[in-house]
Amino acid sequence: MKVLALSCSPSRGRNSDTMLDHFILGMKEITGIEVEKIYLEDIPIDTYKYENSKGPQEYEAKFKELSEKITKEIFGLVIATPTYNFAVPSHLKNFIDRMRFFALDLSRKNKLKQPVGMLGHLRTYFLVSGGTPNWAEHILFFVFPSFWLRGVFLYFNAKVMGAYYSGDVKTFQNTKILKKCFKKGKKYAQKIKKHENQGVLEDIFWRPPQVD
Ligand SMILES: Cc1cc2nc3c(=O)[nH]c(=O)nc-3n(C[C@H](O)[C@H](O)[C@H](O)COP(=O)(O)O)c2cc1C
Repeated sequence: MKVLALSCSPSRGRNSDTMLDHFILGMKEITGIEVEKIYLEDIPIDTYKYENSKGPQEYEAKFKELSEKITKEIFGLVIATPTYNFAVPSHLKNFIDRMRFFALDLSRKNKLKQPVGMLGHLRTYFLVSGGTPNWAEHILFFVFPSFWLRGVFLYFNAKVMGAYYSGDVKTFQNTKILKKCFKKGKKYAQKIKKHENQGVLEDIFWRPPQVD
């Protein structure tokens, strides 16, 4: 069972990247789970435009490889990202914009006339770092990336197994938070190994409208 761990901060070895490393160590406790870590920054991706809407351009070989990996090889996708201006860094946003060609079937529509999501095989998890303390993020959760990412990937019909936010700007040195990431990684791997489904909240509030 292969899981792709996507590190999306431009700052390597800092907060979200270190959270991801500990999450990976947790996942590796479970036998049968194979993890590959990739820095999104290493993959050049043009911004979306109509001309590249059908797939990667010839010179975007690494993006093509990543797209094929997500559609054909992996079972789990873990995204680690910082919060930038209530959103994610531009490269991650850009990657998600470009995912349309394999994440949505534009020829089919659900009851809300939206394209049908094609990532039903994926179980996702989000690790998010930010400068806002955790208590404030709990109240204002709807303006943080974990909420937004959850919405996008449910729209793509992926399963959302959870999200974890750290508001400590020195997370990379915070052993308590990193231990928690380890535990969350282990639990996520156990769940996906058992083919467990996403939580009730995702099913009730974010369940994409069904196809006609
Ligand atoms: C350009 C920029 C924008 C930021 N915007 C926010 C924000 O809107 N909310 C927030 O809580 N933190 C914000 N931060 C703080 C980062 O999210 C925080 O320092 C985070 O831990 C960095 O994670 P990293 O080390 O994984 O890159 C911002 C930082 C930068 C550089």
